Amino acid sequence: MTKKHVLIGVCGGVSAYKACDLVSKLSKLDYEIKVMMTENATKFVPPLIFESLSHNSVEVDLFDPNNQDPITHITLAHWADCVVLVPATANVIAKVVHGLADDLLTSTFLACTCKKIICPAMNTHMYENQVTQDNLARARQLGYQVFEPVVGHLACDDTGKGKLPDVQDIVEVINQAFAMPLMLKGKKVLITAGPTQEPLDPVRFLSNHSSGKQGYAIGEAAYQMGAQVTIVSGPTSLKASQGIQVIPVQTAQEMFEAVKENYQSADFIIMAAAVADYRPEVVAENKIKKSDENLTIHMVKNPDILAYVGEHKTHQIICGFAMETQDLDENAKAKCIKKNCDILIGNNLFTKGAGFQGDTNVVSLVTQESIQHWPKQTKAELGKKILQAMIEIEKRQ
Ligand code: PMT
Repeated sequence: MTKKHVLIGVCGGVSAYKACDLVSKLSKLDYEIKVMMTENATKFVPPLIFESLSHNSVEVDLFDPNNQDPITHITLAHWADCVVLVPATANVIAKVVHGLADDLLTSTFLACTCKKIICPAMNTHMYENQVTQDNLARARQLGYQVFEPVVGHLACDDTGKGKLPDVQDIVEVINQAFAMPLMLKGKKVLITAGPTQEPLDPVRFLSNHSSGKQGYAIGEAAYQMGAQVTIVSGPTSLKASQGIQVIPVQTAQEMFEAVKENYQSADFIIMAAAVADYRPEVVAENKIKKSDENLTIHMVKNPDILAYVGEHKTHQIICGFAMETQDLDENAKAKCIKKNCDILIGNNLFTKGAGFQGDTNVVSLVTQESIQHWPKQTKAELGKKILQAMIEIEKRQ
């Protein structure tokens, strides 16, 4: 088997020495490693160390007179299957998210079309500075994976977030990057996410607490696994990576129309949205005025989007969700069967770390025959696991 090519970009930060350990560890696995460095990085670690550890020459200078290749940055970019900036300094992050290419490392990064991973490490105030946070948000938007630093005592004597994670954890992230993309290549994944808003009058609506985080996390995981992803999204402040198609909707009826237009060509359908079961029968044309009387609103049923897709499914693998406050497993199983899902993810609002808005979830994975209880995990991690479970089901069909 040919080895995967990992290009490590070392920037000028104190933790540059840890990149030596990373290169050493990766070289012992099934990877071929090349290293590029910024000028500043060479002041922390001499290139010779990386040459010895990677068994390859190290590139620093775009115009190195000893280099026979006049376009090293393009050659390196073509060669790489994955590029990892470690440590990524505030300066280099700022440059790469704005397309600046004023040295070999940033030019190569710009030319790379492969998977990109950024491992920031810096002083905690530099990390927390809004400018750096905005740049990291942009990196995520561009589809780069940001492996966040950890909290610790930093070389500058400050304590806080900014420390490079354990090198072994970075190795795991790189392993994952290679494990994931291939699994959904050529597949279409349709996801519903977020709340719906059901208008009452021009200034009011009925809604729920869904933030969209769970649905978007599944979308990001599917995108990283190489799928063509469409998210039909209720109102949310979240932004999906470039490359993910987002169809914004407000009401359950609008979500239904968007799903009807897209479900037939999808291979995997995941319904994580919290859809209003009912809507006001009449939407008042003008603001409803306060009076001395109580107000009664007559509600009518919304279409059940998941049930529709379950009924009309042909080849698709379908995952529903269930938000419960009691009898989670029984209710989730009943929904799984009634709505003809292949799997259903049940979460209980009253379980700590589960449900709306947080970054974690605690769920039961229910099929028509079985129930598994999964421990608390991040919504991102859960996203991957749901997709893996669906891929397994597809393989068995
Ligand atoms: O968005 P977050 O803040 O990250 O929160 C995540 C979540 C709690 C919203 C998510 O984990 C979740 O549980 N989503 C489903 C919420 C829900 O509405 O559950 P339900 O039991 O009412 O609906 C069952 C299933 O039918 C769901 O897949 C739902 O999308 C679907 N449904 C429901 C009603 C309807 N009219 N149409 C539907 O398609």
